[in-house]
Amino acid sequence: MNWPRKDLLDIAALSAEEIEIILDTAVSMKEVLTRPVKKLPTLRGKAVAMLFYETSTRTRSSFETAAKILGADTSSLAVAQSSVSKGESLLDTAKTLAAMNIDLLVVRHAASGAPQFLAERLPLGVINAGDGQHAHPTQALLDVYSMREKWGGVTGRKIVIVGDVLHSRVARSNALCLTKLGAEVVLVGPPTLLPPEMDYLGVRLSYDFDRELAGADGVMALRLQLERQQSGLFPSLREYNRLYGLTRERMARAGKECLVLHPGPMNRGVEIMSDVADSPQSVIETQVTNGVAVRMALIYLLLSGGAVDAVA
Ligand code: CP
Repeated sequence: MNWPRKDLLDIAALSAEEIEIILDTAVSMKEVLTRPVKKLPTLRGKAVAMLFYETSTRTRSSFETAAKILGADTSSLAVAQSSVSKGESLLDTAKTLAAMNIDLLVVRHAASGAPQFLAERLPLGVINAGDGQHAHPTQALLDVYSMREKWGGVTGRKIVIVGDVLHSRVARSNALCLTKLGAEVVLVGPPTLLPPEMDYLGVRLSYDFDRELAGADGVMALRLQLERQQSGLFPSLREYNRLYGLTRERMARAGKECLVLHPGPMNRGVEIMSDVADSPQSVIETQVTNGVAVRMALIYLLLSGGAVDAVA
């Protein structure tokens, strides 16, 4: 198998076949996670650096774990304690890391386009770990992997993504990834958080959560991004929960087989109730485990080009 890309910046750049290659590779990687010794020599001698300008629990630790299992060395710049606080630019910071013989840079930044900016200027590979409101491609890949694992595929499945779509890079990347693989995606939220121009994603928009839950195979509650809200986008958290919160009563409309997903971190009691998040229908913890497998697959493909046997 040949994987010619050096970067992963956006789902939009990937074909359906490339997405399937990543997901198929992740199946082998997930098997490694069940072994007593979770360590491969595949990427011994390679170095992966994390450059996170925004907070993260899942994504950063998942990338670090994935790279280490593959045998790569990892480092993580604590941006708040770095020379960024002295005014060092994004490019100079990244060039400094690159000069330490890094092979792959995993970047999270509040500015949309920051990972692409670096990828165009650096000879090493860059993975987008979330940029502004633009994209979170590895989150979408692990979400789709989690659905595919349950159903065998996502083609023809109806997935409802509900909540703060306006601010959500997760919603954008999932909409692109799922539609490329033939799923039906409906974005749901209050009009203030779901502007009509979101239809550029080629998916249906709806303001009626209860109606859309009928016939849904999967429902993904988005985190209400309280830190990005301007005032007046919704009356109160209680009102938001009443209309768009994922409650047990609402889930009854979708049926027992409908999967519950959330990218995390969750605002329990706001966009999702605890009894739904912790129910048998929930795959939220499985999403986290699958995130390691999917990121292993991606790091392996980007650093080896698919040229060596990944899991021998
Ligand atoms: N889903 C996600 O990106 O979580 P973190 O912000 O914890 O990385």
